[in-house]
Amino acid sequence: MTLKGSINASKFIAFATALTAGACYVIFRFKDRRNRERRGATSPATKLLYKYKQQLTLTPSQITKLDSELQGQIRAGLKAEITTNGLHMLMLPTCVSQIPNGEETGDIYAIDVGGTNFRVKYVRLSAEKSKIESEENFEAPIPKDVMTGTGSALFDFIATRTLNFIMAHEGGQSLEPPLVGFCFSFAIKQLSFNRGILLDWTKGFTCSDVIGHDPVQLLHEAFERAGRQCRVMALLNDTVGVLSAHRYLDQNTCVGIIIGTGTNAAYVEKIGSVKKWSAGPDVDPNAHTIINTEWGAFDSSSLPRCEEDWEVDAATIHKGKYLFEKLLSGMYIGDVARRILLRMARDPSCILFGSKASSDPLIPVALTTKEGFPTSALAKVVEDPGMRPETMARILGVATMSVEACDVVSQVCHLVAERSAQLIALALCAILRHTGWVQNPEGPLTVAFDGGMYEQFAAYRTMIRKAVDEFLGASLGAKITLELVHDGSCVGAAVLAAAATLEHQN
Ligand code: GLC
Repeated sequence: MTLKGSINASKFIAFATALTAGACYVIFRFKDRRNRERRGATSPATKLLYKYKQQLTLTPSQITKLDSELQGQIRAGLKAEITTNGLHMLMLPTCVSQIPNGEETGDIYAIDVGGTNFRVKYVRLSAEKSKIESEENFEAPIPKDVMTGTGSALFDFIATRTLNFIMAHEGGQSLEPPLVGFCFSFAIKQLSFNRGILLDWTKGFTCSDVIGHDPVQLLHEAFERAGRQCRVMALLNDTVGVLSAHRYLDQNTCVGIIIGTGTNAAYVEKIGSVKKWSAGPDVDPNAHTIINTEWGAFDSSSLPRCEEDWEVDAATIHKGKYLFEKLLSGMYIGDVARRILLRMARDPSCILFGSKASSDPLIPVALTTKEGFPTSALAKVVEDPGMRPETMARILGVATMSVEACDVVSQVCHLVAERSAQLIALALCAILRHTGWVQNPEGPLTVAFDGGMYEQFAAYRTMIRKAVDEFLGASLGAKITLELVHDGSCVGAAVLAAAATLEHQN
């Protein structure tokens, strides 16, 4: 064996030893949990945990009821306008009459507003089919005071940053106004391909004087104030963006899902089925369009919920609205887990954290504020099923922690993440039943995903995959590919803006 070989061999042995130790620790934790459950089925913490498991795990009868209610709301929303009260899926037509096919070309700037971050992207779509030639990005967090200030301050924020990016990219100012695709990730009643009306705010945005107005016009006015006009060719939702971005690459893509700060889905629908939208006399009713479902606004008394879900809702700006989103998405689920853990920590009979000898419960500092235990912390816990108490203690801001407490935290986080994944899968399956694909799966189907929670939380992606396969059965599930589209909303905005530009030229 060469020296190099022997180094590799020793590295390999060290790696294998670490791997075996890790695996042994996970097995030990599971065995330990089982033993504790056997011994202490009546321990207060186990009892409370059991109660949450019962409340948050979907039963077969809930699955059947929710599936039928989801399909009912889809049908009702396609037939007639739905009142925007944040408690029903809106099923919004998007005015897309040509689904992207990979032949869109051009130089486009895409703007994405609607999550924690504001993004601008330059995209060159090649003349070669389905090829993105170059990209360049700018990203900045949207300050809280801008999210909750005036509409004109929000649009000034967007316009100035977009123009700075364009100037830097162009390296001067070209004569032609830049072409823009505007992804505005809220419920929009679309009046045309590049005009619409904001129906409602979600995800902590409350800017004044925007609801009831056209975001494209507000953006044009802000460009004017900032000294340079752009041509906004397309206005779209982020779900429509992710679907279009992946459809540009893969014609089997029929659904686009966002699971980040908020959650929503768009899917490909037959124009003739959208009774509330008149696409015009020349449009073939068998041709396809894209529908923005606004599934975050779905609600049903059959949803698996606990008291803490209502507390999370009560603490939001949009109380009583978008309740499905509040059980699922990144802005909320860390807070649901935190509140469950806080309740357990405060329960004097549990004494989850701190010494059992003391009668005063110890409350980990991270559990006392929403910011202390964000969804990223929940993801970290779920990603590491054998997390050691020392690591968990650091996350929660306590000095030490028992194996049992570590296990409880881990199970609560898992429970909340799994409920979210199951509900996403259930709502996706309801859409696929509605379109008839489940009953008659003519070919393979791709679902495109984007959003921080899907992108940065691998164990969560696995949970969605598993739930889809469980709901549809393994052989049908195998026909569905779930694909992550990085920066899908921006790429989709560019693709749709390019399509609109080509249509104008012809
Ligand atoms: C919220 C918005 C919706 C958006 C989703 C994901 O639910 O209402 O339009 O698609 O968040 O960003």
